[in-house]
Amino acid sequence: MTFNPESQAILIVDDTPTNLEILSETLVEAGFQVAVAVDGESALEQLEYYQADLILLDIMMPGINGFETCRRLKANPATHSIPVIFMTALSDTESKVKGLSLGAVDYITKPFQQAEVLARVKVQLQVRHFSRALESQNQQLKQEIARREQAEAALYQLNQTLEIQVQNRTAELSTALESLQQMQVQLIHSERMSSLGQLIAGIAHEVNNPINFIYGNLTPATEYTQALLHLVNLYQLSFPQASLEIQQQLESIDFNFLREDLPKLLSSMKLGAERIRQLVTSLRCFSRLDESEMKPIDIHEGIDSTLLILQHRLKARGSYPAIEVIKSYGNLPPIECYGGQLNQVFMNVLANAIDAIEERYQTQNEVMKLGQIQIITEPLQTRWVAIRIKDNGSGIPESIVSRIFAPFFTTKAAGKGTGLGLSISHQIVVEKHGGRLLCHATSTGGSEFVIEIPMSKHQVGVDSLELEVSRNQVKCNVIAE
Ligand SMILES: Nc1ncnc2c1ncn2[C@@H]1O[C@H](COP(=O)(O)OP(=O)(O)O)[C@@H](O)[C@H]1O
Ligand SMILES: [Mg+2]
Repeated sequence: MTFNPESQAILIVDDTPTNLEILSETLVEAGFQVAVAVDGESALEQLEYYQADLILLDIMMPGINGFETCRRLKANPATHSIPVIFMTALSDTESKVKGLSLGAVDYITKPFQQAEVLARVKVQLQVRHFSRALESQNQQLKQEIARREQAEAALYQLNQTLEIQVQNRTAELSTALESLQQMQVQLIHSERMSSLGQLIAGIAHEVNNPINFIYGNLTPATEYTQALLHLVNLYQLSFPQASLEIQQQLESIDFNFLREDLPKLLSSMKLGAERIRQLVTSLRCFSRLDESEMKPIDIHEGIDSTLLILQHRLKARGSYPAIEVIKSYGNLPPIECYGGQLNQVFMNVLANAIDAIEERYQTQNEVMKLGQIQIITEPLQTRWVAIRIKDNGSGIPESIVSRIFAPFFTTKAAGKGTGLGLSISHQIVVEKHGGRLLCHATSTGGSEFVIEIPMSKHQVGVDSLELEVSRNQVKCNVIAE
């Protein structure tokens, strides 16, 4: 970055020709390019096309003086950075101060000392030269900074896009996972249902035949025994004095007790056989799993057969008292549905209710408050039906309510809970029947599950607003209890 006088142009502004001459000569000899102007206005005009690197400016001139010229130079963006050196009389301190305050960089005093003029001019030109070099470096630095900022912004943008892509992928993956889980549940469900269904149907069939022999033979067996006892009576009347052997036999079989007990025994056998027949009927009803199409059925029958299957868990067991089941069935027409699958829903919800009551017994040791399950069925206004199953069990903590329908979610001990009951029930009610499965807390701290389904498949998708209204009324009922 060398400083070369020949590339430097100096404008001298002075109204005294002698001054112009002396200065020009000195500067040209030193190698500078020189231009001159005789007053302020012509200097300003000249500067519109002449590029000066320095201006030597006289103060006292006709027209606008040096101060005004300097002010205008500094006010113009095209010229404001050109260094100005005032030329003033030696003693005129006031003018020097004023000149400097107007933006001049230096002053030289008249009469001129050539060496001093040259020295001051060179210093100023060098300062300007270096400050320009600095400025250009500064400019380069600024450009570099801008370039880096741009690169940074591009990087940020890229990062942002990447993040969005990652988010999208994560969302896609979790949707895929969810549907995979659903599929898994469906698979387990259908696999279980078919094996369970086959098992139940097989047992029901196998038990059905022998129980029918027993049941069918019980009536003739009763009649035969009555006839035989009657015959013995007749013998006793005809031969009051029995032989010793007969008397011994009568005593050894305790005939008087036998005569009284045998009819009772037979009638209790009949009762038992009837129970087994009922159970078989329930099992058959429950396992209507192979149905591939919807059929109109009495859902009360389905609920009752499910309750019968759960009977052993509802009775008093060990330290647990019996669980009371309060049914209040509404007047419902046959409902078009997959009966076996709906029974599975009743089974899951009722089994959960029993679990919840047992849990309360265990954790709160609150055997005083007896377990109670209420089953209410009722038609809704929109040709839908609602089946409410309410328990006074342990209740569902607020923190898990949103998760209970998720596949594999369970709060029960390993081996006891699978976490599939509600998710399967949800699928059956919502997907298979176009219905709804709702759950809320009861005023007693237990839970209520509400199964809502259309009475026939033509009702699916019925005006949901109407349903909303009827459901709100139901909610009010719960709160009003
Ligand atoms: N009636 C109820 N009272 C209290 N909690 C319940 C009830 N029904 C369901 N739950 C909760 O929902 C969870 C999921 O139920 P479910 O899908 O049937 O699976 P599982 O019974 O195998 O745990 C249960 O573990 C339990 O925490
Ligand atoms: Mg369950």
